[in-house]
Amino acid sequence: MLIKRVRGWEIPERMATDESVFLNRRSFMAGAGSIAAASVIGANGLILPAGAQETSDPTVDLYPAMRNGNYQIERAITPEEINSTYNNFYEFGSHKQISERAQALMTRPWTVTFDGEVEEEREVDVDTLIRAMGVEERLYRHRCVEAWSMTVPWSGFPLARLVEYARPLSSAKYVVMQTFQDSDIASGQRQFWYPWPYTEGLTIEEATNDLAFMVTGVYGRPAAKQFGAPLRLAVPWKYGFKSIKSIVRVSFTSERPVSFWEELNASEYGFWANVNPEVSHPRWSQAQERVLGEDRKIPTVIYNGYGDYVSDLYKDIEGERLYM
Ligand code: MTE
Repeated sequence: MLIKRVRGWEIPERMATDESVFLNRRSFMAGAGSIAAASVIGANGLILPAGAQETSDPTVDLYPAMRNGNYQIERAITPEEINSTYNNFYEFGSHKQISERAQALMTRPWTVTFDGEVEEEREVDVDTLIRAMGVEERLYRHRCVEAWSMTVPWSGFPLARLVEYARPLSSAKYVVMQTFQDSDIASGQRQFWYPWPYTEGLTIEEATNDLAFMVTGVYGRPAAKQFGAPLRLAVPWKYGFKSIKSIVRVSFTSERPVSFWEELNASEYGFWANVNPEVSHPRWSQAQERVLGEDRKIPTVIYNGYGDYVSDLYKDIEGERLYM
């Protein structure tokens, strides 16, 4: 017998996007392509700063993608104008207002390298990759280690599908991802005390968990650059710094990688970084989170509310700093 298990974050059907809205948005997007060609609206739908160049996104026809109903949540979606102007992307500055500067990043052409312990190393054009993977929409909570949170309609595909595509050897225990490096356009990368390029990693078990998601779009369009276009990670049970942006390299290793923040300050940022309200950051409590766009704080939930999916991943790991 098929029993549908309603998980804590699923929302009632009446709150899901109505099909007519979905279809209307698609025709709106088709029309928007011609508007973009004649104005300063970028392919990602954002108004570009004067002088910025934009390459059109060859995958725009894939959006808005069908929402996967298994990943709906009870919180309101954070308004796009808030989410797209409050970003962590240290390559473009160590503050939240980097959205204009990030438009300097040219996201096409874009190549992703698969290497390390794989059957065959290869470089793949990102559009070929996105079309091979397919795109769906998922609503995810996003909890930053700085104790703020959002609810985001990501589009993309399961990381498990990418791992399968990469054909890792059985010796591979970790997936390591790296962001582009180009200090000519990313002024933050001229700050030599940071260990560029931004690097993050997951165990293969985490990477192949249903929740681990590669993001290509957000708010029903290809991702704007400040979100980490053209390819970023979303691992919503972990603090946001694990969700690496603008990925150019996916490597498979048998050794646990040291990630960007861990290398910078291992006593404050670890490899696992699973959300837990009971384990404080050395400098602040993680018990609550400020909901962006709403004038309130709410209690933080272990694994950011995704324990049904991921708690089994950690049950046999002892002596690890799982929540930092
Ligand atoms: N990826 C790169 N390459 N550079 C960064 O500075 N910041 C991380 C993560 N990924 C970061 C990154 C942090 S701290 C957070 S909270 C999220 O991106 C922020 O994602 P958002 O801007 O989409 O909210």
